[in-house]
Amino acid sequence: MHRYIEARAGHMDTRRIAVLLDDIIADPALHARFVNTLARMEYVGVRKLLKSRRAEQLDLEGLQHMLDENVHALRLKKAATVLAASAGARVTTFSDDDTLAGAAGEGYLQALDHNAEAGLADLPPEKRPEANYLLTTAAIEVRAQVFYPIYDARLSAHDVGFSVAAISKDEDRHLGEMARGLERMFGDWRGRLEPLLADEERLFRDFLDKVELAVAVVRAAQARRA
Ligand SMILES: [Fe+2]
Ligand SMILES: [Fe+2]
Repeated sequence: MHRYIEARAGHMDTRRIAVLLDDIIADPALHARFVNTLARMEYVGVRKLLKSRRAEQLDLEGLQHMLDENVHALRLKKAATVLAASAGARVTTFSDDDTLAGAAGEGYLQALDHNAEAGLADLPPEKRPEANYLLTTAAIEVRAQVFYPIYDARLSAHDVGFSVAAISKDEDRHLGEMARGLERMFGDWRGRLEPLLADEERLFRDFLDKVELAVAVVRAAQARRA
């Protein structure tokens, strides 16, 4: 799994992520909305886990995973709330006004789930939910292991006062669990995961486009008021 993370770490989108983050972090009100988008994405992850995992398949690691993602959502929501307050703003819900491209963040996860499902038509129906869980989660955790370390470095460079290092550590553990689960289910799982990773790269790029657009909309509104 780590070679997929390294392949992405050298990708041009990585530079794009750092530049976008620097731009967002410099404006605390905007940053609060972006952190709230991340909280929404962690929350959507929890909701997907709760809906998709069958009790017959659920072990201790599976239960812990749900709790971890919920803790991530909560930590990010609290950080977003503090940041917003420092700028005299609020991020109460996960609505469009309280997030930065929040709907696009949720759409990225839904589309990835949908693409994974489409690649499992050859499996017996009863195996598909667990296979989808393993593949979708692995693709998201590869992204998390690219994104959160860059974000954490930019947070400390800007001296923001919170860190996502603990979240990143949990995501790395989840990724290891997915690798073991995929091994048990498929043996050689690479041919299953790699097409989904290619989809993920495109979907994440679309999400970044929407975040950049949302930043531009906020800036245009600020310029009109000035
Ligand atoms: Fe998470
Ligand atoms: Fe995770």
